[in-house]
Amino acid sequence: MIIEPRTRGFICITSHPTGCAQNVKNQINYIQSKGKIEGAKKVLVIGASTGFGLASRITSAFGSDAATIGVFFEKPPAKGKTASAGWYNSAAFEKEANHAGLYAKSINGDAFSNEIKEETIQLIKEDLEQIDLVIYSLASPARTHPETGIRHKSTLKPIGNTFTDKTVDFHTGVVKPVSIDPCSDEDIANTIAVMGGEDWKMWITKLKNAGVLATNFKTVAYSYIGPEITEAVYRKGTIGMAKNDLEKTAFEISDTLKNIDGQAFVSVNKALVTQSSSAIPVIPLYISLLYKVMKENNVHEGCIEQIQRLYADRLFASETLTDTEGRIRVDDWEMRADIQDEVSKLWKAADTDSLSQIGDLEGYRNDFFNLFGFKVDGVNYEEDTEEVVLIPSIS
Ligand code: NAI
Repeated sequence: MIIEPRTRGFICITSHPTGCAQNVKNQINYIQSKGKIEGAKKVLVIGASTGFGLASRITSAFGSDAATIGVFFEKPPAKGKTASAGWYNSAAFEKEANHAGLYAKSINGDAFSNEIKEETIQLIKEDLEQIDLVIYSLASPARTHPETGIRHKSTLKPIGNTFTDKTVDFHTGVVKPVSIDPCSDEDIANTIAVMGGEDWKMWITKLKNAGVLATNFKTVAYSYIGPEITEAVYRKGTIGMAKNDLEKTAFEISDTLKNIDGQAFVSVNKALVTQSSSAIPVIPLYISLLYKVMKENNVHEGCIEQIQRLYADRLFASETLTDTEGRIRVDDWEMRADIQDEVSKLWKAADTDSLSQIGDLEGYRNDFFNLFGFKVDGVNYEEDTEEVVLIPSIS
């Protein structure tokens, strides 16, 4: 079929298998161009199909020749209906990994459930015996708690006061005021239940109790801080409370890993266009301005560049440097004072007329469509394309 993008707000309901495969190849080429990383050899990535998780899986496999198991929750294709992008990404990843002689298997299902955790442990026992790295990169709007059965929904709201500022509709380029009512205590608790550290800890506890964690095991989860402009809706909002909880959980997990010399880290990453970040009000406008400034200063990075730097210069460096709160920082270039000064100046000036000049809206849009395999260089979108693409280890 001929596959075209069909967007609904901040999501695209179609995706292109050839474009997704090209994105995966481009990320592999980048990692190969940077040389080998003395990293973990048996890796589990939870949230492995898009964004930072996919970049982590690619970096482990093609940077360190690692065997990888990827867990994700994606929609498979059907005749006449495209799969979700993460499905096509994972199909392409496995094919490339197999071609390179690397072990790669995937599990598609709800990572928050006990069943998927058990299935993963079983697979590790059968194929890898033990693993030495777990990347935890889930981003989800909801979680069904495996013990209580309660379905928690996360929110992106400020705490205490109504937040009023501006945001952009990145499809039209219209900059408009945005006002978000403050959350309730329940919203905070629910957002922590979805995006906080409980599920990460459950995973590591189950893996450890099953005896599948190797000596010197490491685990990393991803967090975000960001500037003052986004603070009310992000770091000091409901999602920020979940990130505080996630960061605190790293210490709790590290305590449980002492007898295998293991360690849990949180890495604070840069703001990037992913399926999750497009959903957060204010962030698209901030990212359009940030991209412009970071590109002008030659310090712009995508997910793959971020994770390559995280592995090579932090996690697997002779010493893993952290900030005073114990977090790894690869948002250092985003948070540089000169970059942030420039972004806040531009923020004040940003309106519908000025944005195309002072911001990188085009870059934002391109990255957004790229997430779904569209607008990818070298792909012929006029060509009849097979939508039913299978993931080798799943089909
Ligand atoms: P993403 O939306 O690209 O990826 C989310 C992944 O989670 C996908 O692989 C998806 O299949 C998987 N997933 C979602 N629900 C699942 C479930 N119930 N069971 C199994 N898999 C499930 O998200 P992104 O942006 O890569 O986020 C990953 C982490 O990085 C999040 O913790 C996010 O807060 C953090 N982060 C994101 C930043 C950004 O600007 N995008 C910046 C810094 C940190």
